[in-house]
Amino acid sequence: MLEIVPLSPIIGAQIRAIDLSAGVAASVATELRRALARHVALVFRRQRLSPDRLLAAVGALGQPERQNYSQFNHPEFPDIGILDYEGEQTPANMWHTDHTNRVAPPMATVLYAVAVPGHGGDTSIANMRAAYAALPATLQRELESLKTVNTFDGQFAVRANDRERFGTPVVHPLVRTHPETGEKALYFHILKAERIVGRTPQASRVFLQDLLDRAIEPAFVYRHRWQVGDVLVIDNRSAMHKVHDDYDRAEKRLLHRVIIAGDRPI
Ligand SMILES: [Fe+2]
Repeated sequence: MLEIVPLSPIIGAQIRAIDLSAGVAASVATELRRALARHVALVFRRQRLSPDRLLAAVGALGQPERQNYSQFNHPEFPDIGILDYEGEQTPANMWHTDHTNRVAPPMATVLYAVAVPGHGGDTSIANMRAAYAALPATLQRELESLKTVNTFDGQFAVRANDRERFGTPVVHPLVRTHPETGEKALYFHILKAERIVGRTPQASRVFLQDLLDRAIEPAFVYRHRWQVGDVLVIDNRSAMHKVHDDYDRAEKRLLHRVIIAGDRPI
């Protein structure tokens, strides 16, 4: 039995007394997936994960898959993305969910802290099921009728082979139903949502930003303060997340990211 300690009533749980580097048995992986669906974000402290051990642990939860920008791939382990915000890379400091430009976006994002600054650079995660549930019923009905058109967000250069694989615009529902819990959640990446179907890009952006401002309440958010060795697993089917771009860039902040294959949102 896993030791699961909720971090708040609405979002987040810490998984204690587990060494992910030792491998994850199938029965444990099933429990972890269930815990993820329930708690939206899982935290593991004090892990020591070489790239191959990280991929093995994540691989027990699901299928790791390639990320959008191959220029940020780990040179030897291309299923690991390097997040270091050096060079052209900048932090995603707005609420979003990852890789909505895919027909079947990743069910989860896994982050592993290799180096962290003394202060700042936290990652916040919002429970978008709770955010949706708290909206007025009339607005919920309107949102359920909307669809977004999603593509690369233009933040970074896109290599030709990445554009070929992942560049075709894809339509997703603005409200998706979690395949395991059956609950509904707001679902979009504000920069990748080029527009809402039937609206202009500009009107869509204003609408989506207003929706984020209105829907995400402090009680729905877990803010993770990084320590070296932390693993954070985010359920992308019911969460949005953002990086706090508030740390001293003279300090190193290096995370390894793995995304896990998911279903087409419905
Ligand atoms: Fe992200």
